[in-house]
Amino acid sequence: MGKIPFFKSKNIAEGTFQIENAFTGGFSTYAYLLEGKDYALLIDTIMGWGDLKAYCATLTDKPVKVVNTHAHWDHIGGNFHFDSCYMPLRDIPYFQTVIGVTKDVIFAQAKMSALDEFKELLVCDDNFADTKPIKVFPLSDGDIFDLGDRKVEVVEVGGHTPGSIVLIDDKTRIAFCGDACNGNTLLEFKTSLPVNVYLLNLRRLAAYSDRFDMMYGGHEVFDKTIIEEGIETAESVVNGTDEKYPAKGIMGYDICYAVAKNADGTNGTDGKRFNMSYDPGRINGTDNTRQIITAEMPVLC
Ligand SMILES: [Fe+2]
Repeated sequence: MGKIPFFKSKNIAEGTFQIENAFTGGFSTYAYLLEGKDYALLIDTIMGWGDLKAYCATLTDKPVKVVNTHAHWDHIGGNFHFDSCYMPLRDIPYFQTVIGVTKDVIFAQAKMSALDEFKELLVCDDNFADTKPIKVFPLSDGDIFDLGDRKVEVVEVGGHTPGSIVLIDDKTRIAFCGDACNGNTLLEFKTSLPVNVYLLNLRRLAAYSDRFDMMYGGHEVFDKTIIEEGIETAESVVNGTDEKYPAKGIMGYDICYAVAKNADGTNGTDGKRFNMSYDPGRINGTDNTRQIITAEMPVLC
C-alpha cells in the first residue's frame, strides 16, 4: 500500500513551520508550529485528518502545546490527538459542541476531500481520532506563551467568533491571526459579534501593529496593511456606505458582503484584498461580554 502524505510543511521563519494537509485538494487550512527552547507551540490543529501530533514530532523534538485561534471545526479537528489545548475563553462552549463525533465521520470527511489518487488508500486507522473530552485551558487577552527564548502574546480580536485571538510572535514579527482578519473575513454566523464591535477590535489590533510585519492566517497570508483595509471596510458597513452585496452564507442564511464579488467569486471590485460578510440585521450591537442567562439555551453553532 502506498503511503498517504497527510501533511506537508514549509519553513516560513527561523524555528517556524506552516503545516497543511497534503492529500487533499481545494479548501485548505494552515496550522503553525513555533519551536522554542522549552517547548513548541502548535497554533491550530486543522481538520483532524491525519495524526498531527506524530507529524509535529518529525519537525521538533520539543514537547508540543496546542493553542487554538478559535473553535471552528477546521482549526480544532486535530486537538483530539493531544491531551490538552489552550483556547480563547469565549470560544470554549463552541468547542464542546463537537465532542462525541466519531472517527468514522471524520474519516468520511477526509475521504471526500482526498485527491483521487489517495481516496482508495485511506483507511480509518490511528490517523483519525474520536472527538473526546480533553483538558481545555482558557485564554484571555494579554496572556503570554513563554517558550523559554520566545514569547507569544494573545490579543483578542473577537468578530468572526466571540473569542477569536491573534498571537503575536515578537521573534519573527509575525501575527498568527486564524480567521480574525483576512480576504474573506466571515462575520455572518449567529455566533459572530456585531460589525461595530469587530471594528473596535480591529482598531485595537492595529495599535499592536508596530510589533509585526506579516499576518499568517488560517487560510491566507497577508502583510499587516490588510488591517487598515479591514478597518476602512468595517467602517463602511457601520456607516451604511458599503456595497451590501447580497449572498447566501455558508450556513445558508441571507447575508451581505461589504464589497461586491467579482464574477469568479474573488474580491477586488474595490481594489482591496479585504472583504467581509455580515448579517445585515447585526451591524450594530453590544459585545455581550456580560452574559444574560435566560431560560433559553445559548446559540451554539
Ligand atoms: Fe473560522
